[in-house]
Amino acid sequence: MSAAQERTVEDQPVIRIFDTTLRDGEQSPGASLNMAEKLEIARQLELLNVDIIEAGFPISSPDDFEAVRAIAGMIKNCTVAALARCTEKDIVRAAEAVKEAVKPRIHVFCATSAIHRQYKLKRAEEEIIKLSVEGVKLAKSFCDDVEFSPEDASRTELPFLTQVVEAVIEAGATTVNIPDTVGYSTPVHFTNIIRHLRENVRNINKAVISVHCHNDLGLAVANSLAAVEAGARQIECTINGLGERAGNASLEEVVMAIRTRADVYKCRTRVNTKRIYPTSRLVSTLTGIHVQRNKAIVGENAFAHESGIHQHGMLANRATYEIMNPEDVGIPASKLVLGKHSGRHALRDRLQQLGHDLDEERLDRVFEQFKILADRKKEVFDEDLETLVSHVVEEADSTRRWELVSLQTTAGTGVVPTATVRLRDLHGGQVVTDAATGDGPIDATFTCMLRITGIDAVLREYDLRAVTGGRDAQGEVHLELVSDGSTFRGRGRSTDIIEASAQAFLSAINRALIAKGKPKPITPENGH
Ligand code: KIV
Ligand code: ZN
Repeated sequence: MSAAQERTVEDQPVIRIFDTTLRDGEQSPGASLNMAEKLEIARQLELLNVDIIEAGFPISSPDDFEAVRAIAGMIKNCTVAALARCTEKDIVRAAEAVKEAVKPRIHVFCATSAIHRQYKLKRAEEEIIKLSVEGVKLAKSFCDDVEFSPEDASRTELPFLTQVVEAVIEAGATTVNIPDTVGYSTPVHFTNIIRHLRENVRNINKAVISVHCHNDLGLAVANSLAAVEAGARQIECTINGLGERAGNASLEEVVMAIRTRADVYKCRTRVNTKRIYPTSRLVSTLTGIHVQRNKAIVGENAFAHESGIHQHGMLANRATYEIMNPEDVGIPASKLVLGKHSGRHALRDRLQQLGHDLDEERLDRVFEQFKILADRKKEVFDEDLETLVSHVVEEADSTRRWELVSLQTTAGTGVVPTATVRLRDLHGGQVVTDAATGDGPIDATFTCMLRITGIDAVLREYDLRAVTGGRDAQGEVHLELVSDGSTFRGRGRSTDIIEASAQAFLSAINRALIAKGKPKPITPENGH
């Protein structure tokens, strides 16, 4: 890009990127994260240079409150937002959670569509306006930066939506977010809503217009971009498009579309696109939600060229079939393989290339695990390193209750499968041993673990895949347990698939134990 072009880009209006991976994304079924994982993702989002991190919904659970508070205390360069309904207890809790942030924001919401007014809130239009205005005013008493969302805006009658938006701006909202809560809108429909608000809300210039699109019809990114063309200046999105049901608009797609088609959108984001791929990998490893192979920007096939004609064109000139450079989104230019003779320096360099800037303590821990792994398998690939990092992040969680000390199993043709499991109680210190038989060694292991930890849970999903190719590959297990009506996710990896299964099962048990005895979380959808 020439200097002249760069200047032009700098002059373009900025679209604020509001990342809600830790709030709406974390509401994806089975995607719940522990504190250490949330902090790690927040750190990556800051490096990615998003403008706003929505860290959680503090009233929903004590864990969420603590996570928002910790993120607010840690993040220096992004605004940290907390979600609240328009009630005093929600707003006070959100304000408390973000009060230490360098740049705090309170995000209040109230549903406005006829169907929500009638069946969920059971309130008339005037009451909704009153509730919204009072919510914004209360939030404003704690924090200058207040965002308001009329939930289900895209199904709200336009004259009423116009009235609500005008009233909340008058009350002090500095951002008005227009959610397509149920993913019902289409690009033309959504453009019309944003245009209508810009033309009919008298004080619209006093607030930033934001959009928040869900992907039920696969249109979240298209709708968000259409809104930008109509004048929206903030997009709410998530890494890998995580989120309720079919998810939210995907951050990587929105950002790269704005960058690649700057000729169309005539605006820019501040996102450091080279951090997109590492962030996507981290979120996928920590949530256990895989990115589909053909996912735009970050999928395994996004930059793969299989057909001979394409390969020929690529060799002559990459631009024949590639509209973006993989390096621009942070996909490493080459695959580097480490082995048992690789040192701490080589490991640190590679981790940095993969987007992980670990402090000395965590690097030591990853190095220790790396040495163990390198003894078990000849070649350690990038994917192996990512699993090691996620393992160390999970280990850092002080609320974890049980740790696997040892595991011994027998299985084979004509023998009864058995397992002997030893677990350490990290809170009490004692080591407990149990033995059981089962349908197979994994079943026997799970029985021991349920008995030792005393938890009543049913295994709902179990997924095993090889992290890399080769016979010595690590097996990665993702599973889901259901206990007390709630779902808990666990993951584990090892070159021994029974050990990987045991780790995954124990990590889900640990999450279930943390949740036990706590009030059922409130979500924006079940909240009123
Ligand atoms: O989808 C939605 O409407 C939301 C709001 C809370 C912004 O997530
Ligand atoms: Zn949402």
